[in-house]
Amino acid sequence: MQSDVFPNADPPQPADNSRRSFMKQAGGALGLALAPPLVGQAERLTAYAKVIEGATDITLRVNGQARPVRVEPRVSLLDALREHLDLTGTKKGCDHGQCGACTVHVDGRRILSCLTLAVMSQGKEITTIEGLAQGEQLHPMQEAFLKHDGFQCGYCTPGQIMSAVACVQEGHATTDAQCREWMSGNLCRCGAYPNILAAVREVAGKG
Ligand code: FES
Ligand code: FES
Repeated sequence: MQSDVFPNADPPQPADNSRRSFMKQAGGALGLALAPPLVGQAERLTAYAKVIEGATDITLRVNGQARPVRVEPRVSLLDALREHLDLTGTKKGCDHGQCGACTVHVDGRRILSCLTLAVMSQGKEITTIEGLAQGEQLHPMQEAFLKHDGFQCGYCTPGQIMSAVACVQEGHATTDAQCREWMSGNLCRCGAYPNILAAVREVAGKG
């Protein structure tokens, strides 16, 4: 689905782990149609698997640190980060893979943490917005968002920045249209899109 904020995109089809890809794979997804509308995606995914009860001790590697955490198998990576590890920079918007607010990097690729189970993230390098800066030195994308006023309320901003960093690294920000398309999975209720685009394009140009 194309964002109405990035209206001029000529849509190539992203092949990443984005909301669009997920919805396609779920495809048709009779399951989606039949599933209760207010159930989180990670919980919905496990609803079809055999029921495994009880919390499990796992270790997540987040922002370069090993973080032990005890979670039930149904817990999403998003909830593990926010509710168990107090990393609340990653936001919960829709909890259904449709807004991009929960975007983090796993092994260098952007993923939607609301669609990812915490137990499946063991042994992987997870980076959240809290891990982007180097000490007091902001990441160039954070600097660019500040410079171009790429946020208003700021709720979508962590997800936007994580997606933007990946978008540039993927080589998907070489034109305005391409950037709009590959950032279209990140929604902003405040409509900060022109400024977000300016920030991403500036960093892409520097790269
Ligand atoms: S909270 Fe994950 S995509 Fe909206
Ligand atoms: S800045 Fe408010 S939702 Fe994007």
